[in-house]
Amino acid sequence: MQYVALVTGASSGVGEALAPLLAQRGYKVFGMSRRSVDLPGVTSLPADISDADALNKAIERLIEETGRLDAVLHCAGIGGAGPVEQMPTERARRIMETNFWGSWNLCQATLPYLRKSDRGRLLLVGSIAGFMGIPFRSAYCASKAALKAMSDSLRMEVQGSNLEVTMVAPGDIATNSIATQYRQPVEDLDPLYRERYKKADDGMAANVDHGMDAAFVAEAMYQIMEKDQLKPYYAIGELLQRASVKASRLLPGHLWEKVLGKYYS
Ligand SMILES: NC(=O)c1ccc[n+]([C@@H]2O[C@H](COP(=O)([O-])OP(=O)(O)OC[C@H]3O[C@@H](n4cnc5c(N)ncnc54)[C@H](OP(=O)(O)O)[C@@H]3O)[C@@H](O)[C@H]2O)c1
Repeated sequence: MQYVALVTGASSGVGEALAPLLAQRGYKVFGMSRRSVDLPGVTSLPADISDADALNKAIERLIEETGRLDAVLHCAGIGGAGPVEQMPTERARRIMETNFWGSWNLCQATLPYLRKSDRGRLLLVGSIAGFMGIPFRSAYCASKAALKAMSDSLRMEVQGSNLEVTMVAPGDIATNSIATQYRQPVEDLDPLYRERYKKADDGMAANVDHGMDAAFVAEAMYQIMEKDQLKPYYAIGELLQRASVKASRLLPGHLWEKVLGKYYS
């Protein structure tokens, strides 16, 4: 018997590294993204996760072919930058539509099958940014915080089934994500924001450039999914980034903001 895994975000970055890795380790793997994928051992299952009908149809196709779904590794997501006051609302909404509502759609489409598995696994990729606000990344942070809350609720809801749910929260990963996301041009902004926005955005781009390899994160996700019992979340990244999750909760708010402000200026 071969376990069946669905990897979203399979056309780039973490998902692109993870899908063939799971195939190599013995899973029957389907790779989902808006673009089709051509990866060793991976069946392409294109769909836009923010389009519930298209997503449901894709999952129906998968079930017709395999009759089961045991693991969902949800790596699809988008970022974006701009100040709350001036970032075009449709850009911010797009981030929520993909990162939160797309994840919601994915859960609704796949949970009935995951719950039937004798070893169901649902790994939702959030971000360390989902534990805090980062200047000029508000929509992204909000989308990942919402995903974290959904993951925590869901985890408790499915108790009594064989499904283990967790959120994987990486720090910076060296992928194309910055190059492909919307970043509001500095010239569009009020002078109040320009200089700090540019510094924060350049800093973010440099951090991502020097981030972890997607293959490293993919291997960590494989190790997590193979555990018998999953923790509510796993922070993956360099010590400073992992520690920031705890520090954001332990330090008094104004002190934490000073520390974070220094990091992004
Ligand atoms: N890179 C980082 O520094 C970093 C840090 C923390 C967390 N994360 C999170 O880690 C995950 C993977 O990031 P990454 O850096 O590997 O990203 P990436 O290289 O930009 O890849 C994103 C993937 O998501 C897919 N995708 C985007 N919108 C989609 C939609 N509406 N429907 C279906 N698929 C969609 C893209 O494929 P198509 O364009 O073909 O649809 C692509 O395969 C994301 O959730 C991201 O937020 C990334």
